[in-house]
Amino acid sequence: MQDLELSGGGYTDGDVDTNLSANTHLSTLIESRYSRRQAISGIGAATAAVFGSSLLAACDEDNEVVDDGTIGAGQNGTTTTGRIVQLIGQTLTGSFGQVSWEQTSGPPVTLTNAGTPNASFIAPAVAAATPLGFRFSARSVATGQVVTADTTVTVGPAVLSFNAVAKSLADIVTVPAGYTVTVLYRGGDPLAANVPAFANDGTDTNFAQRAGDHHDGMYWYGLNAAGTAREDSNNERGLLAMNHENITENYLHPNGQTGNGTTVPRPEAEALKEIEAHGVSVVEVRRQGGTWSYNQASAFNRRITPNTVVEFNGPVRGNAQMRTAFSPGGTQGRGTINNCAFGFVLWGTFLTCEENWAGYFRRSATDNANRSAREITALNRYGIPQGASGSYGWASVTPADATNTTYRRWNISVDPATPAGGTGDYRNEHNHFGWTVECDPYDPTRAPRKRTALGRINREGAWHGQWVAGRKVTIYSGDDARGEYLYKFISANAWNPADAQAADRLAIGDKYLDNGTLCVAKFNADGTGVWLPLVFGQGPLTAASPVFPFQDQADVLIHPRLAADALGATRMDRPEWTATHYLTGEIYLTLTNNNATLRPLNGTDAANPRHYNDPRGATNQFGNPNGHILRLRETGDNSESLTFTWDNYLFGAGSDLNATNINLSSLDATNDFSSPDGIWFARPTNPSGLINPLLWIQTDDGAFTDVTNNQMLAALPGRTGDGGARTITNTGSGGATATQATFVGAVPGVKLKRFMVGPKGCEITGVDSTPDGRTLFVNIQHPGEGGGPTNITSNWPQSQTGQASGRPRSATVAVTKDDGGVVGL
Ligand code: FEO
Ligand code: CA
Ligand code: CA
Ligand code: CA
Repeated sequence: MQDLELSGGGYTDGDVDTNLSANTHLSTLIESRYSRRQAISGIGAATAAVFGSSLLAACDEDNEVVDDGTIGAGQNGTTTTGRIVQLIGQTLTGSFGQVSWEQTSGPPVTLTNAGTPNASFIAPAVAAATPLGFRFSARSVATGQVVTADTTVTVGPAVLSFNAVAKSLADIVTVPAGYTVTVLYRGGDPLAANVPAFANDGTDTNFAQRAGDHHDGMYWYGLNAAGTAREDSNNERGLLAMNHENITENYLHPNGQTGNGTTVPRPEAEALKEIEAHGVSVVEVRRQGGTWSYNQASAFNRRITPNTVVEFNGPVRGNAQMRTAFSPGGTQGRGTINNCAFGFVLWGTFLTCEENWAGYFRRSATDNANRSAREITALNRYGIPQGASGSYGWASVTPADATNTTYRRWNISVDPATPAGGTGDYRNEHNHFGWTVECDPYDPTRAPRKRTALGRINREGAWHGQWVAGRKVTIYSGDDARGEYLYKFISANAWNPADAQAADRLAIGDKYLDNGTLCVAKFNADGTGVWLPLVFGQGPLTAASPVFPFQDQADVLIHPRLAADALGATRMDRPEWTATHYLTGEIYLTLTNNNATLRPLNGTDAANPRHYNDPRGATNQFGNPNGHILRLRETGDNSESLTFTWDNYLFGAGSDLNATNINLSSLDATNDFSSPDGIWFARPTNPSGLINPLLWIQTDDGAFTDVTNNQMLAALPGRTGDGGARTITNTGSGGATATQATFVGAVPGVKLKRFMVGPKGCEITGVDSTPDGRTLFVNIQHPGEGGGPTNITSNWPQSQTGQASGRPRSATVAVTKDDGGVVGL
């Protein structure tokens, strides 16, 4: 333990046992004459390492070991990846100058305040216990003698060092002890200097210049310190780009919605507000004096709404099925809607994704008579049967300006009085949604580009595979509906790292996202799988297909669901987000849940293996109500591969459910959860994203919410195949049973802990951090969902600071660790 030494000023390599200088070792001084503290005082230098907030052994005046938050001079200590370590050197006042800390051995770290008595650093990511050496030096003002003291800090691999939070039904965001939540950016917050503060009573207007509702997928885009341009590494000033998936319509108006959109038209002002509360926002945020806030007046602030003009790019641009009265050439459209998860690409743009868009469209009860068989097949497959009423009834609005078609377009019924191709009505408007939409967060003047090469589905997200120079760019996407598929886009072009900092970011998007091969996943019972290319003319993807008469590649990309049906892809338990393990390239896919109606007892397969009951009070919930997380490893760890292996990393379940057949991951009270949705690996720019990356899992659940509000967990997963094969017995309603073989990942144990529980009625979705991992941004979506002006069911975010009143608002929170360490570790 005693590594402190005195030196005549010569620097050594830190190996104290080979120090040959004729100096007195501190321990000798202690033994010969002094108590340790007296020795320290007499010498004028002491070192201590303070590890996080833990108390380590220290020496008092009488040389007794006590716990007072410091350790005695020269003592060594241990910590783990991502935790902050404070190195404390002390000198007698007035006696010494030129104090400094330096690192003498081990993986290099950044020492903060190295020229002062007290320095600190963040423990780096390590695979095994690794010693780091540090030396404190101080020069005597009187004699010029330099004394030094060495400390060794041994860093261990990442652990989830926080205490799991309990399940909760409280109306507040709960995080572990030692963490702080700051509400940063709420629905309705103004995004320009002249926009009034949000009254939050239903009277507010102009959501085109306010934060939208239902915050969802989100990513941090760094700015330079001056706030003028992109700088990826900044941790204190940046832009948050985020989705506003949907609305809690009741709270948006003084007394809830007016009109039903069928027998009573909706008022234009209400519909406009509801439309503009959807879409995307870009907002500048800063940390000043240790406190996060958003910049209302930033020139970067932006709203993209369902009314913003967008461009179509890629193979579908200009296709006959894209023609509308707004864009007779089929090259432009208006806006984006139901933006759920997202993607980030290394050239610095935001890929917003259009998920449950079909429900917004109205279609007359006799529209089939005006449609071809092809059109009817496609409309039904995508969920817009004739007679669909259209959420929120926007199409019923009679606008003050009769030429304004922004409401009319939500009715896709064919108007037989207009030209047959659809250039005079909005019969094709639905084909404008379901895409991946690339937005440049740094340039509010650029129109978003819909990247049609990636296909049209209920697009949950568009998360990239591993980035390898010279290897093709890949994008993974879940199609979020029960029984839908997992897709992978493989760019025609190989990644060139020189493109990462290009000035014209959307032009780089053109290069990688407008040309490539869309594939769909088939999961085999033996733990292997294959990516099936969706290429017109190959296999069944021809005009002769009994599923759908495909016309060309654009037709395949407008209808990937039908193409995947034809190819025999594997129907999944509602594919949600994907996340990529940066080092291994493994893909994690949340499968949020499924029910007995859409996937009966005999409908399981190895990748979607469970069928059981999770009773909620007296109500049975059969199927896979709690969901699971599948992971796959591409063959050769190469994201271009068309084959892979897979297992099921984790199964959601209440810890009270049957351990043999349901709670397959042996969850307990610290980590039981249901319906995973958001999933994201910590950034590789800090220790939480390196070597053994931290995985964040968010829930969008309705099956377990009698026990706990929605939550976010932290995990340290292993590798595909770290568990083993298992055969379970499923049970259907009526008691029928069936066996199913599958592959279950290793039991997570303490490598999975509940980190956050949200307020009442919320979903937790959207997570990112600053590059250093020391601030985590999390979105709280639709608190108080199901309530309304006369039945306010949550007061969050007001409740976060003790105010139990006011309408609820979706919001972004910033979570920081009180000691400054990396969040989660
Ligand atoms: Fe919007 Fe699939 O969650
Ligand atoms: Ca989601
Ligand atoms: Ca969901
Ligand atoms: Ca939602």
